[in-house]
Order: sequence, then C-alpha cells, then structure tokens
Amino acid sequence: TLEKTIAMIKPDAVSKVGHIMDMIFSDGFHMSKAIMAQLSRTDAQRFYAVHQQKPFFNELVDFITSGKVVAMELIGNDAVKHWRTLAGPTDSAVARSEAPNSVRARFGTDKQTNAVHGGDSPENAAKELNIFFGPQPQKNTAKLL
Ligand code: CMP
Repeated sequence: TLEKTIAMIKPDAVSKVGHIMDMIFSDGFHMSKAIMAQLSRTDAQRFYAVHQQKPFFNELVDFITSGKVVAMELIGNDAVKHWRTLAGPTDSAVARSEAPNSVRARFGTDKQTNAVHGGDSPENAAKELNIFFGPQPQKNTAKLL
C-alpha cells in the first residue's frame, strides 16, 4: 500500500543531512516535502505526546529542541515500516550490531541521540507531519528559520 510517513533528522545528525537524504533516495522513497526548523518546547511536547509518561520525556524534549531538525514527508510502498527499517533499531548501539547499514548505525550515538525519527503508524505520522507542514506553521508549529 502506498503510504506517507515522516522522517526527521535530529539535531545530532543535521550536519549529515546530505548522507541521510542520499540513503533515503537510494532506497526508493519519494520525498514530497522537507523543512529545516527548530522546535519550540510546546511543539516538541506535541510531537512526542505518545511518550509523555516515559521517564525520559523531559530529556527527550531537551534534546530535540537543542538545535535545528530536518523534517521530511516520505511517500512510498509501505513507507512507515520501510523508513523504520532503514532508520534501524532505536538504540544506535543495537543498530550497529543488528543493522549495520541503517541510518542509526551510521550516524547515531546511543538510544536517545539516535540521528533520526520515524512515524510509527500512518495516523501518528500524519499528526507529526502536521506540526511541520500544517496549515498555519507560522502560528503554532515549528518556527521557520
Ligand atoms: P524516536 O524514534 O524519535 O522515538 C522516541 C525517542 O525517545 C527515541 O527515538 C529516542 O530518541 C528516545 N528514547 C527512546 N528510548 C529512550 C531511553 N530509554 N532513554 C532515552 N531516550 C530514549
């Protein structure tokens, strides 16, 4: 099934944007939108709303707001799962042993500082995409630089 998902390059890997986009295009995705932005704390909390109850939530918000990110809308067959596979396991150390060609194996550091994010379902991807590409980005979504 043709799907849409979000891929987001986190602050630790923004300097690798070229390499990461190469991997995305080489794997056959269509990139329909891309933006560089710095998330406000409010937007970061919305973006990671599903992790609100996790012990690492505040640390995660600190990290994701620490610098610019690059958000992309990707389209392709089974795009949600396909991008999660190319991204690799959440923990970059695990990625290096189990999926050495994944983005997180190549560019991530550990389980938090892991280079990229991927939407985990078409529904969550749509919500996350809306934070960057919604109808009024200048008002209540990621700030344009
Ligand atoms: P991501 O795919 O963006 O989804 C949620 C993020 O939370 C995850 O990547 C990591 O950056 C972070 N994360 C997940 N597990 C942990 C953990 N145990 N400790 C700190 N950060 C984590």
